[in-house]
Amino acid sequence: MLKPFARTLACALALTATGLAYADNPITIKFAHVVAEHTPKGQGAEMFKKLAEERLPGKVKVEVYPNSSLFGDGKEMEALLLGDVQLLAPSLAKFEPYSKPLQIFDLPFLFDDMAAVDRFQNGEAGKGLLKSMEDKNITGLAYWHNGLKVLSANKALREPKDARGLKFRVQASNVLEEQFKAVRANPRKMSFAEVYQGLQTGVVNGTENTWSNYYSQKVHEVQPFFTESNHGLIDYMVITNTKFWNGLPADVRTELEKIMAEVSVEVNKKADALNVEARDAIAKAGTSEIIQLTPEQRGEWREAMRPVWEKFQGEIGADLIKAAEASNQAQ
Ligand code: LMR
Repeated sequence: MLKPFARTLACALALTATGLAYADNPITIKFAHVVAEHTPKGQGAEMFKKLAEERLPGKVKVEVYPNSSLFGDGKEMEALLLGDVQLLAPSLAKFEPYSKPLQIFDLPFLFDDMAAVDRFQNGEAGKGLLKSMEDKNITGLAYWHNGLKVLSANKALREPKDARGLKFRVQASNVLEEQFKAVRANPRKMSFAEVYQGLQTGVVNGTENTWSNYYSQKVHEVQPFFTESNHGLIDYMVITNTKFWNGLPADVRTELEKIMAEVSVEVNKKADALNVEARDAIAKAGTSEIIQLTPEQRGEWREAMRPVWEKFQGEIGADLIKAAEASNQAQ
């Protein structure tokens, strides 16, 4: 048992040691993602870095790797589990191997608008999903918005039958595969970094994404038609390695969680403006026609894709789907 003085001394030494350890060797947090910097996620990662280094000077260093420059799709989760990267923000479509319920976010025509997405993510069910992978050593820290998906193709898509036989790039999601099969198109899973070339060379004829992802990848150069279908969602979960996060000094972790919460509010506020800006830029480029669907046409897509829900209800859970549908009603 240490005497009070000795205990104080030991404490002081420990604190000094921690301080020295920080000064010499700040905790490095690598944040990797697959998109460009001028996108909601790209901006969010930069904002997180700035605030973390400002508020935890000498204690934390954040390195951001955009554009799949450190790890791309397919490798990034494994890298997180191995401790080669500490933060990722994969699209919600990419979690199927880790959490079946998270497939909910890919169901076509589930959310009427981003306000409904907000209500669901901020509600009990949405918050619960952040913790749905902890048994696999993955903790969800926040949801970040990108926005609703737009279709693109080498031909005009107005009705579901226009997509028949076309090859569509999809993210690594079984739900999205089924969504395109439902309109008798041929889905092909492909990493984000391969999209431009895939479209350019005709490996695929079309895809689905948000305006900010299209513009920042120059997809309009190789896709003459966009259809503003808003048929699904591209959003993100910012994730970390559970053991790494829980092992951070408590003061650092608490501050980083505060910063993450602030950044999430900002990203989610700004995502829509970034997509509007990207849409305008594509319209101005004059490369592509932007097609608006009539309510009847949109209804046809909805009806054609809707059977996908039943296929995945067992894996996702009927109650979770009900909770998500309920979020379309403003409380
Ligand atoms: C995609 O792979 O299409 C996108 O989800 C990429 C991203 O992270 O926005």
